[in-house]
Amino acid sequence: MSLFSRIRDDIDSVLERDPAARSRLEVFLCYPGLWAVWIHRISHALWGAKLRLPARLLSQVGRFYTGVDIHPGATLGRRLFIDHATGVVIGETAIVGDDVTMYQGVTLGGTGKGHGKRHPTVCDNVFIGNNANVLGNITIGENSRVGAGSVVLSDVPPDSTVVGVPAHIVYRNGQRVLITDPHDIKDPLSDSLIALAARVEELEKQLGGKAQPAEPFAAEEAERTAYRAKLERMRQYVSMGEGI
Ligand SMILES: CC(C)(COP(=O)(O)OP(=O)(O)OC[C@H]1O[C@@H](n2cnc3c(N)ncnc32)[C@H](O)[C@@H]1OP(=O)(O)O)[C@@H](O)C(=O)NCCC(=O)NCCS
Repeated sequence: MSLFSRIRDDIDSVLERDPAARSRLEVFLCYPGLWAVWIHRISHALWGAKLRLPARLLSQVGRFYTGVDIHPGATLGRRLFIDHATGVVIGETAIVGDDVTMYQGVTLGGTGKGHGKRHPTVCDNVFIGNNANVLGNITIGENSRVGAGSVVLSDVPPDSTVVGVPAHIVYRNGQRVLITDPHDIKDPLSDSLIALAARVEELEKQLGGKAQPAEPFAAEEAERTAYRAKLERMRQYVSMGEGI
């Protein structure tokens, strides 16, 4: 594929994905996320030719003009669309498939612990919302979506949607996934919930299951019912005057 047709391909994919884009000329002139990808293609070629310093320098020039910091060693697929550009960081050993969309502030980074392949692999047709952090040598399966502001620390299966900190699955193959077990969310708060639930269960056992759980918010509900009844009486009284 010639350079010209690749650029055209990139521009057309933006026109398809961004309803705000109106013409090829506008996309060419006003989308720094695309310039960042084009500059990366050159710096990546320099990196591959072992011209490491010129490659790093060029990527820094790209960062200055676009706000996108892509390490020249990163491997990017076709038609990557970085919308709004600013603040995106893509690490050295990251691999990004075809037709991936990401918004401003996304980081495909390392955890700071590993060497070698230490950045994520993002498969084809993945969507990553703004300010999401995808960290470590993990894989985001194809057609998956990462919610804005999420922190993804483990593999995401294909055709899934993940959200939250740390990210958990909310949709898989089009079906809603509901979390019923706090073990499924691996954060310090869920550990406290698990410990609390175990303690409540233990206390219930000690009570011999005889204690009748009080109706939650019973007093508030009674108050609300009385108030609604009062409103209803007033409504009837007012309606008596209607039509006179
Ligand atoms: C992740 C996303 C794609 C999911 O969209 P969706 O399929 O319509 O999902 P829903 O709105 O049905 O949300 C499913 C659940 O996830 C929660 N959720 C959705 N996005 C979330 C997010 N970013 N962070 C935390 N929770 C989120 C919803 O509250 C809902 O939970 P609930 O049912 O318990 O209330 C979307 O919410 C998102 O984050 N898009 C990114 C948009 C973006 O980056 N825009 C930048 C424009 S400049």
